[in-house]
Formats: sequence, C-alpha cells, structure tokens
Amino acid sequence: MKLLTLSSLLVLANWPSTVLSAGAQHPLAPSTSTESLVSLHKSLIEHESITGNEGNVGQWLVAYLKAQNFTVETQEVSEGRENILAYIGQQRKTRIAVSSHIDTVPPFWPYERRGDEIWGRGSVDAKGSVATQIKAVEELRAKGTIAEGDISLLYVVGEETGGDGMRKANDLGLSWETIIFGEPTELKLASGHKGNTAITIRAKGKAGHSGYPELGRNANSMLIPALYALGKLELPWSEKYGNTTMNIGRIEGGVAANVIAEDAMASIAVRLAAGTPDVVHKLVREAVEKTGENLEVECSPGYGPVPIDTDVPGFDTIIVNYGTDIPNLKGDHKRYLYGPGDILVAHSDHEHLSISDLETAVKGYKTLITHALK
Ligand SMILES: *[C@@H]1O[C@H](CO)[C@@H](O)[C@H](O)[C@H]1NC(C)=O
Ligand SMILES: *[C@@H]1O[C@H](CO)[C@@H](O)[C@H](O)[C@H]1NC(C)=O
Ligand SMILES: [Zn+2]
Repeated sequence: MKLLTLSSLLVLANWPSTVLSAGAQHPLAPSTSTESLVSLHKSLIEHESITGNEGNVGQWLVAYLKAQNFTVETQEVSEGRENILAYIGQQRKTRIAVSSHIDTVPPFWPYERRGDEIWGRGSVDAKGSVATQIKAVEELRAKGTIAEGDISLLYVVGEETGGDGMRKANDLGLSWETIIFGEPTELKLASGHKGNTAITIRAKGKAGHSGYPELGRNANSMLIPALYALGKLELPWSEKYGNTTMNIGRIEGGVAANVIAEDAMASIAVRLAAGTPDVVHKLVREAVEKTGENLEVECSPGYGPVPIDTDVPGFDTIIVNYGTDIPNLKGDHKRYLYGPGDILVAHSDHEHLSISDLETAVKGYKTLITHALK
C-alpha cells in the first residue's frame, strides 16, 4: 500500500472552502492568498469569453477591480465589448502597466479542479496571466511598495482574432515607460516572438459540366500547383527565431464532383523568423504568378519578428512562435512578456496548469513590476 502524506490527502480531498478557511491556522492548509488567487482565476474562467463575447467577463472584472478599490475605466471596442483600464486613485497616467487579454479561443469548456491542477478554457491563455497580474499588484499595493501613479492594469478584448481591442487602446491617450504583457511563457521571460502575416490565394475558374473539361477552367486545379509552389519557397530565417513557416490552414473550392470548379481559395498563416512581411508577400506573389493566370494574392499587413526585453535577473528566457498584442500597441515603451502555463496546451482540449504555477507567476510579476519601477 502506498503511504499518503497529510498534504497530499488535503489536495486529494479537495475540501470545501468552509473547511479550508476553518483550517487556516493549520500549517498544511493553503494560505488565504492562494485561496483568493485560485478563486479569482476560477471566476474568470467560469465567465465564458470566446472572442466577440467578452461582455460578461468584462463586467465581472470591472466589479471585482472596483471592489478592490481600483479606479476603473472602460473603453468600448464594439457593441458589448469593452477594454478595461484600472489604476490606483485619480492618476490615470502611470509609469508602468501590466496587460493581457480577456478573450479566449473556442470552444468553451468549463472549469474543473483535478487535484492541484486547474483545467478549463482560458485557464492558461490568458486568464492565468490576468489573475496572477492582479494578485501581484494587489499584494504590492497592500505592502505599500506601489502607490498612485505607479501602475495601471489594462485588459483588452479581441487578442485571439487580430487584436481589435489592443489597437483601440492606442486611443486611450496614454503611454508608459514599461509594459508587462501576460501570455503563457512557462514562467520564463520571452526574448521575442515571430512575426505574422496572413495570405489568401483565390483562383477564378469557369464552371461547366465535368464531362467537358475543355469548355471550362477548374479553379481547384489552378490552386493546387500554386500551393505546391509555395511549399518550395526559400523563406527568410534567422539564428534567433529559426525558420519562417507557413500553414495552409484552410482550403475551399468547387461545389460538386461533377461540376468544373469556378472558385477556389486557400488561407495561409505565415510566421516570420526574419525580415518584414513585404519580403514574403513579394516571394509569394512571384511564385503564384509563375504557376498561371487568374490567381489573386491578398496579403494582410502583418509585422516582422518582435524582440522583447529580458534584462531582469533570475528568469530563464524563451522564444515563442505565437503572436501577441505587443505589436498592436504603439509607443516606445520597454516591454516584457511573461506568464504561467504552457502554450502547447493553451488552445487545446486539455488546457490546464497547476496551482503552484499560478503562485510562482504572482512572485514573477512582483519581481518584474518592482524591477520596472526602480
Ligand atoms: C482607496 O484608494 C484610495 C487611493 O489610494 C485611498 O485614498 C483610499 O483610502 C482607499 N480606500 C479604502 C477603503 O481602502
Ligand atoms: C529550417 O529549415 C531547414 C531546411 O528545410 C531545416 O533543415 C532545419 O532543420 C529547419 N530549422 C528549424 C529550426 O526548424
Ligand atoms: Zn493569449
């Protein structure tokens, strides 16, 4: 028989909160700061906030921050969707900010506690960062380390689908010395992330009976060589970020097997490891043009690789391949990217992190905030 220690029994038993608070004096019971952290994280996850539907979690968070005696402003991004700006006292211009996003990817699946792990949509991306940033600020404020004028909390909508929230935040009329962005970085300081651009290729064919292909022009048959040519391209790369990669994420074309396809399209996400999006757009246009006529290439502006500051002692560093809101916020502030949880589980059906990761993230954010205010 395996011996269980008292602390693992406590975890396994997942005691109701009344028992936990009654046992607050017990040395093995979770501290009240852990309880309030886990409870804040839970409430954020329980309010479903798939991009476009951030209203509920936003209202809840506004009420929470007001109850913690922050001054709270909201900024409408589109109907029912608001960014949240919170600060101490009356001074809305502050030296630094912590920031993350309150939307999640679909589908929603609910909060679940499994021992010392927390599962659920948004548990990692990015409600783990939101909850731990807030707790870090609360704790530093309670200790008197930070005060009015030092720090703002900026929580935006729409990060997962292109950053309409953060782009709107440029209209707040504010600037900061330093911004600490929260995204899952496995508790490491990110030293940079790849750039991003989206490309759509459309083929225009001519419909007709499939028995008489010579009378039509098949859009699917035009798209395939174009995509094949993209796979052969030599794209920019760098020592720091590795290879530029392309994901043909969606293909659509034709209406039925026995009809010559009139339309076909492919959407492609490009992750840039060097250079600017223009370079990749030009390579793609040339390659597609060579494969035939009646093909159209449409490119989103995008951005090149994003370097991020790491000059705070005591952290491991990491390069991440995902995009963030960092390039969507203008200004020449110093910037850090840090947060609990692993990006590899973030958009998956097994999104989860551990309570100790949350606790470590509170400490990490406190270190970053204190460093930035020196
Ligand atoms: C709320 O914050 C303000 C600004 O820091 C402070 O003056 C006030 O005493 C606080 N109120 C409470 C109830 O803590
Ligand atoms: C980059 O691409 C080259 C050529 O395809 C490949 O050999 C190399 O392993 C790739 N590097 C990384 C970091 O994926
Ligand atoms: Zn995120």
